[in-house]
Amino acid sequence: MKNKLIAPSLLSADFGNLQRDIEMLNESQADWLHVDVMDGRFVPNISFGFPVMKTVQEHAKKFVDVHLMIVEPEKYVDEFINMGADLVSVHLEACTHLHRVINQIQDKGAKAGVVLNPATPVILLEDIIKEVDLVLIMSVNPGFGGQKFIENTYKKVKETKDMILDNNSTALIQVDGGVNLDNASKLFGAGADVLVAGNAVFASENPAKTIELLKL
Ligand code: DX5
Ligand code: ZN
Repeated sequence: MKNKLIAPSLLSADFGNLQRDIEMLNESQADWLHVDVMDGRFVPNISFGFPVMKTVQEHAKKFVDVHLMIVEPEKYVDEFINMGADLVSVHLEACTHLHRVINQIQDKGAKAGVVLNPATPVILLEDIIKEVDLVLIMSVNPGFGGQKFIENTYKKVKETKDMILDNNSTALIQVDGGVNLDNASKLFGAGADVLVAGNAVFASENPAKTIELLKL
């Protein structure tokens, strides 16, 4: 997969016009479509689940990237993959048996990602880095769109990149939270492959144009 990928987050879309927004993304230079699932337990917010995923499945033409911010993700990953998820990411902090969940996702035919909260150190990936297809570094505390980017993220991206190279891992690095036109190129420069952007895309006057600019 090529570098400098943009994954607009549906969390900031207009849910009254979800099909319209997904079609806009289909026509745009967006590479992936990021789907944020929140359960009100792992994070202090509830977003959406399978009914919205069904609309995504029916209309999205892009690679579907599902970010599970839920406890016991192993109970639900199969269903998300059945509904068209190309990649499913689970939080390290939510998995007692992370290795098992990563295998479960891959055995079901999808790519598997592991997510780190801002306070979780990169070193904890040491024994899973060869197994995962993606590492998602959270650059805000998960739960809400439109939050301020945490500057320590650059350091974590570089540490992750070093670990990937040291281990001959093929994992991509994704960054999620507070990504905007001011920090995107610096994040790509630090080693990120995929940037999630919610507010920066959907609150802009021309979302399709903003997606293009985020790649510059
Ligand atoms: C935060 C979610 C993010 C969120 C990003 O918990 O995981 O994907 O939608 O939104 P912005 O880009 O607005 O910070
Ligand atoms: Zn997300």
